[in-house]
Amino acid sequence: MSSVLFVCLGNICRSPLAEAALRAEAERLRLDLVVEFAGTGNWHIGEPPDPRARAVAARHGIDISGYQARQVTRADFTRFTHIVALDHDNLSNLRRMAPPSAVAELSLLLDHVPGREGQAVADPWFGEAAGFDVTWAEVTAAASTLAARFRAR
Ligand code: 4NP
Repeated sequence: MSSVLFVCLGNICRSPLAEAALRAEAERLRLDLVVEFAGTGNWHIGEPPDPRARAVAARHGIDISGYQARQVTRADFTRFTHIVALDHDNLSNLRRMAPPSAVAELSLLLDHVPGREGQAVADPWFGEAAGFDVTWAEVTAAASTLAARFRAR
């Protein structure tokens, strides 16, 4: 079975939204897919997503208030078939921590959106609330192509 881990920095803004978007799309298509999210940073372990992330998800009918942040572990590289980083810094950190036994295929989230390959999902944490709508649009675009790809397997 395929499994996808989304990874950002704080684990309270972008990766929970990416998880929520792909989980919703997988449920819609009745895909058997494991989806989780984690952060490379450790500041927010155990915390729920940022209120602005919870609000954008809620506006799209998804409740992520029960989510809890966790940090990426080396075991994730063998547990997941795909690890998807939200930006380049997180991708480099993942490459650095990958054990020799890693099986997960690493990519950037926007590599999965035609025309946006190689680009980063900007961190909305430091900006205006509207940034979370941009994040939502990006993660739903990626969720749609990722789900289609897993469906075709
Ligand atoms: P995220 O955003 O990586 O999308 O969850 C951030 C949230 C918090 C922090 C950094 C990024 N922080 O430094 O606490």
